[in-house]
Amino acid sequence: MSDGFSKVPFDLPLQAGLMPRMLITIMGTVNPNPNRFSLDFKKGNDIAFHFNPRFNEDNKKVIVCNSMFQNNWGKEERTAPRFPFEAGKPFQLQILCEVDHFKVAVDGAHLLQYNFREKQLNAINKLCINGDITLTSVMPTMI
Ligand code: GAL
Repeated sequence: MSDGFSKVPFDLPLQAGLMPRMLITIMGTVNPNPNRFSLDFKKGNDIAFHFNPRFNEDNKKVIVCNSMFQNNWGKEERTAPRFPFEAGKPFQLQILCEVDHFKVAVDGAHLLQYNFREKQLNAINKLCINGDITLTSVMPTMI
């Protein structure tokens, strides 16, 4: 997808799966009065990496990262040092697949890393985007 706005849910097939140096750049805008949005890197029904900004969890903003295997969520990682998304504002979200973790940057600044729990990278063949955002573009590249 390049031009125009696209509604979520949006699925990006990753033909050969993930591999180190694959960078996915997502341009979007947070909707008004957002509750949450998520990126899910999936291997079949399993979710290798769930990246989930929540705008109002008990009146707090938090980014929750996790994985889901055989329909069971694992231990949440809630260590993001800041919450860079704002209602109604555009953002650039980049997810770089490195050798043993995902690296996430927002608006060009590093945000967090998520160590691989699913190690079979080439079987992670779909990115699903959902929630309270509007997408402008989703672009996979190699760096
Ligand atoms: C659950 C939520 C899921 C997912 C998960 C992450 O509570 O229903 O959508 O965000 O947490 O741990």
